Amino acid sequence: TGNSGMEHLIFVINQLQDACASSGTSIRIDLPQIAVVGSQSAGKSSVLENFVGRDFLPRGSGIVTRRPLILQLMNYQTEYAEFGHIRGKKFVNFDEVRREIEVETDRLTGQNKGISNVPITLRVYSPQVLNLTLVDLPGMTKVAVGDQPPDIEQQVRAMIWEFISKDNCLILAADPSGSRTIGVLTKLDLMDAGTDARDVLENRFLPLRRGYVGVVNRSQKDIDGRKDISSAMAAERKFFLGHPAYRHMAERMGTAHLQRCLNQQLVGHIRDTLPTLRAALQSRLTELEAEHRAFGGLDPDDPNAKAKIMATLINQFIENFTKAIEGFGEVSTKEL
Ligand code: GDP
Ligand code: NA
Ligand code: MG
Repeated sequence: TGNSGMEHLIFVINQLQDACASSGTSIRIDLPQIAVVGSQSAGKSSVLENFVGRDFLPRGSGIVTRRPLILQLMNYQTEYAEFGHIRGKKFVNFDEVRREIEVETDRLTGQNKGISNVPITLRVYSPQVLNLTLVDLPGMTKVAVGDQPPDIEQQVRAMIWEFISKDNCLILAADPSGSRTIGVLTKLDLMDAGTDARDVLENRFLPLRRGYVGVVNRSQKDIDGRKDISSAMAAERKFFLGHPAYRHMAERMGTAHLQRCLNQQLVGHIRDTLPTLRAALQSRLTELEAEHRAFGGLDPDDPNAKAKIMATLINQFIENFTKAIEGFGEVSTKEL
């Protein structure tokens, strides 16, 4: 597509995100991303699973997401998943993906359902997905359970804030506020008879610069009955086409539209933040170069070797970046 130059940017940002996660040295650069926030049980995990078309996220009551999950969706001919902490292992069974998330979460947080701000990186290759990077965060909660720390609510809020306070973070949220927020209304199927969310969805009630998309995810009953995601997506489409309050805007509603919309917004957002990001990378590169000049000879266990690797990666990144920007002339920015 004419968008491929900019699509490529999502790819290079992912590479850099990996490099940051795997190198001991913190790169201290904020990458453009979309954080998913909302209250507990708002339907955040459901939306992400619908994007992928697979059940792969831990489910349950209480705070299930207890470490940030950086989910890199990559459009690809075959379907598999790979974790940043187990490079090279291809997961084709998504039940195993779920178990690995659970194990890796507990590895850092212990068994007491605490939280940690160290992200898990999961990359999903699939013909289903559009290139998109999302960060799943713990839901906002009010109650600590079991031997959870009593200040769990503050901890969750602090973690969410750490992500969304950054200028280059888009926010996918059911709790709308601010210009970087893309509003998502879940559970439209559960509204009382005779009421609807048309005023919100048409951006009149609590206007957001980036607007709203309504979705219908699987209910708990659907999940218990093992309803698959493709039939859920068909049912969602039928819901919007058949609903008197939403029928006229059915093309702008639903999971498939949300995914397209996020892909375009992320690409546009990366484009907008390019100059700042590029300058930040350039100055970090200069620092790194100075660091390993000062230390000279490198051994691979030396943190300076990592600095050198980072410097190389950043260099490559800036090169890719420049190529992607050069292709920028042919970008078609379709209206959402
Ligand atoms: P999270 O805590 O925000 O990640 O929420 P989940 O995606 O885990 O969903 C919490 C519960 O709400 C699950 O039982 C879902 O089946 C249910 N749910 C989520 N979205 C919808 C929706 O659009 N309609 C209905 N009926 N149930 C939903
Ligand atoms: Na949940
Ligand atoms: Mg969740």
